[in-house]
Amino acid sequence: ATVIFSGIQPTGIPHLGNYLGALQNWRRLQDEAQPGAKLLYSIVDLHAITLPQQAPMLRQWKREMLAALLAVGLDPARSSIFYQSSVPAHTELMWILSCTASMGYLSRMTQWKSKLHLSDDASALDEKAKASLKLGLFSYPVLQAADILVHRATHVPVGEDQRQHLEFARECATNFNHTFGAGSKLLVPPETILSPAKRIMSLQTPTSKMSKSDTDPRSRILLTDSAEEIHKKIMAAKTDSTNAVSYDRAARPGVANLLELWASFDARGRGPEMLAEELGGQKASLKDLKTSVADVLVEEIPAIGVRYREFLEKDGGRYLDEVEEEGARVARKSADETMEIVKRAVGLSR
Ligand code: TYM
Repeated sequence: ATVIFSGIQPTGIPHLGNYLGALQNWRRLQDEAQPGAKLLYSIVDLHAITLPQQAPMLRQWKREMLAALLAVGLDPARSSIFYQSSVPAHTELMWILSCTASMGYLSRMTQWKSKLHLSDDASALDEKAKASLKLGLFSYPVLQAADILVHRATHVPVGEDQRQHLEFARECATNFNHTFGAGSKLLVPPETILSPAKRIMSLQTPTSKMSKSDTDPRSRILLTDSAEEIHKKIMAAKTDSTNAVSYDRAARPGVANLLELWASFDARGRGPEMLAEELGGQKASLKDLKTSVADVLVEEIPAIGVRYREFLEKDGGRYLDEVEEEGARVARKSADETMEIVKRAVGLSR
C-alpha cells in the first residue's frame, strides 16, 4: 500500500520555496491518491528545538503552520496532519535506530558540516566552539529517518535540500533490516519525490536557496504576503545587467529563478526554457518578465493568506486543535503498528 509522509519545521510562515518544493506536491499527492493510500504530514516541533526556541513562540508557530497547511489545500478528511511530539513513537524509534546508525555517516552530512563551517569556508570552528555544538543537531537526521520509517512510508515528497537526509533514512532502514531481520523488510526504504521546482532561490542572492532563516525579508515571498507585497518583492528581485530574457541557470541565476517561479504556476504548463524563448521573441525586458511573474503569483498566493487567517480564527481556534488531535490519533495508530514489529524483532517485547 502507498504511504506518503513528509514534514515541515514550525519556524515561521512557509515561503514560496516550501510551497513549490514541497507543499504543492503534498496537495497534489493527496488529490491524486488512490482510496486506501495513507497520507501523513507532520509539523516537526522536535526538530525545531535543535535550535533555541522560545516556548510561547514555538506554540504559536505550530498553530500557524497548521493553519498554513490547511490554507494550501490539505484536507484533514484525507490527510492526517499532526505535531511530531504528539506521537511518542517517533522519538522511541529514533533511539533504536541510533543504535545501528553510524557516526561516520552522520558526520559527513552536509547540514552538520555546514554547522562546523567545513563545507563553505575554511575557517573551521575552534575546539571549544565545536564542543558546544548540540547532540540534537548531530542526530537530527536519525529523528528524521524515524519520522519516515515509523510509518513505513513508501514515498516522501521534499525539496532538493532534503535529498541527503532521505538517503540516510534508506540507509537506516537497510541497516536495521540487516541487523534485526536477516534482511527481511521490517522497515521500508522510502522513495524520494522531488517537484520540478525542487530548489527555489533567494530573490536577493539567487545563488543560495530561499530560506526562512535569511535575515533579509525581501529574499522570500511568504504564503501570507499581500498582492502588493508580492509585487514589490518581485520587482526588487536581483537579476543582472543584460536587459533581455534568456534561460541560463549558471550565468543568469536571478533571471532563471524568476522563469522557474513563473513556470511552476503556468496554467499552460510551459517550462522555463519555453517561457524564455517566447519572451525573447517578443523582445521583452526584465521589467516585463518581473511584471508577468508577479501577476501569476498574485493570482494564487493572496487567496492562501485569506484562507490562512480564516483557519486561525475558526471556532475561536478550536478547529485547529480538533484537526490536530484527529491527525495525531491516526498517526499514533500507524506508528504503533510499526513499533510492534520493531520491538518484536529487537527483543524488546515479550
Ligand atoms: P523544512 O522545514 O526546512 O522545509 C520544508 C520543505 O520545504 C522544502 N524547501 C524547499 N524546496 C525548494 N526550494 C527551497 N528554497 C526550499 N526550502 C525548503 C524542503 O526541502 C522541505 O521539503 N528536515 C526537514 C523536515 C523534516 C522532514 C522529516 C521532511 C523532518 N522530518 C521527514 C521529510 C520527512 C526540514 O527541515 O524541512
